Amino acid sequence: MGKRKTGTPGNEDEQCRYACLSCMEVWYVAAEATPYVKVGGLADVAGELPRNLSQLGVRIRLCLPLHESMTIPADGVDSLSLDIPAEGGMEPCTVYAWVDDDLPVQVYDLPRWFARERVYGYPDDGERYAAFCLAVAAHAVLHGNPPSILHLNDWHTAPLAMLTRHAPASGPGAVLRQVRTLLTIHSMEYQGVARPSLADRFGLGSRVMEKDGAEWHGGFNALKSGIAWADAINTVSPTYSRDILRPGNGFGLESFLAQRVRGLPPSLYAGILNRLDKSWDPAVDKGIAERYTDRSLQRRRSNAAALRRELCLPETDGPMAAYVGRLVHGKGIGLLMEAAPVLMEKGLQLVILGAGDSEFQERLTAMAAAHPGSLSFQCGFDAPLAHRIYAGADMLIMPSLHEACGLSQQIAMRYGCLPVVRKTGGLADTVMDGDNGFVFTKESGFALFRAMRRAMKTFSNHGRWEEMMRNAMRTDSSWESSAKAYISIYSRLMGDSGVKNSLL
Ligand code: GLC
Repeated sequence: MGKRKTGTPGNEDEQCRYACLSCMEVWYVAAEATPYVKVGGLADVAGELPRNLSQLGVRIRLCLPLHESMTIPADGVDSLSLDIPAEGGMEPCTVYAWVDDDLPVQVYDLPRWFARERVYGYPDDGERYAAFCLAVAAHAVLHGNPPSILHLNDWHTAPLAMLTRHAPASGPGAVLRQVRTLLTIHSMEYQGVARPSLADRFGLGSRVMEKDGAEWHGGFNALKSGIAWADAINTVSPTYSRDILRPGNGFGLESFLAQRVRGLPPSLYAGILNRLDKSWDPAVDKGIAERYTDRSLQRRRSNAAALRRELCLPETDGPMAAYVGRLVHGKGIGLLMEAAPVLMEKGLQLVILGAGDSEFQERLTAMAAAHPGSLSFQCGFDAPLAHRIYAGADMLIMPSLHEACGLSQQIAMRYGCLPVVRKTGGLADTVMDGDNGFVFTKESGFALFRAMRRAMKTFSNHGRWEEMMRNAMRTDSSWESSAKAYISIYSRLMGDSGVKNSLL
């Protein structure tokens, strides 16, 4: 929205912001969010950002599907039944709503689609998340206080942008036409491509299956449907927001996205870094052997000793580096496996925690057996162990081939564990070579090897290493400025929507 002339220039922005805050109602819609359900980094962001926005005065609700592993609190829960369109009729959905630590949460119970062990990875994922989108849309229509903004995340919820744009002009569904949408892209890699008839499930059929819409090589592309029709788009780091517009970098959608971005006002396409809650703090972490701050770094040694004991690695004066993350090609685990044997020969101890492609898992199991005392491979996801690793390891290796933002490198920095990263996406935006970590550019095991050698050399200079640890621990990774950047997108959406006036 435009600046108002108030005669008190110092307060203009604040007044503008709060005028908008008081009239916006945001529903933050995601497939996963901590502490309820987590597969990847999306869950951390969806768990933390809405709370931070709420603390800044935004009226925001978190909307999630009810996954099998989630539990509804015993008290203080409202419920509502609604029907969503299904093949050949309607299908029931129950919405449970409660307030968790000041944040309103709405979960959508669609047992046919979500009473399953996993969050993703089924052949009918497209149908499943379509049902979730339809339930959120139906709820928005019925709600006494409908959302003015739907904040969508990744392909799972992107079709809500398409649904609001194609809402009927009259009747109850017309409420959706007033809703503005922001699509946050956490990953271009996963697009939710399904059979073309999925468009019918949304009640839109051939209307949306066009080249400039949801059509993709004859199928329905959920992420593309969001890119086509969202009112604003952002990604989770400035570098990634530029990278994915370049040929070869947007998993096939780069030129379509670039074309859409050209049609948006510049302020409605942004790269906003994901940040971390205050709870990621070695000074208060109850799960580590000894708590510490940047003024008591010597205490970190007990954490290193405890970690070595736990993982059966011998006590040494040399460095211990870790990899914590999914074992998939895109995260660069292949680069690490190439560099690891020589690094271990040079005295590096290596801890790898993660699960993923069975080929990587098998090769790592074999490598660990061949290097006892140098490599500990922990197959699986283990959040408490990850904390002990951040507190005890000296370096965190993130050789990602692409990384929208990356949270582990920021967590590691909070814990004084120096990140060694490839210069891509959010890694390039958060790690400064020689200051709070080490950065390499080339997508090769040798480039990683060289960066690790530099890190190992620096490690042997105790004073210099401590200085870098302190720099890392003092790097600002709090949510505040990113949350404010989201508020300014919300405000712009409200400003040009006309919704503001109708609600004031
Ligand atoms: C995805 C991206 C990761 C990002 C996270 C949260 O997992 O791969 O880079 O940090 O989403 O946005």
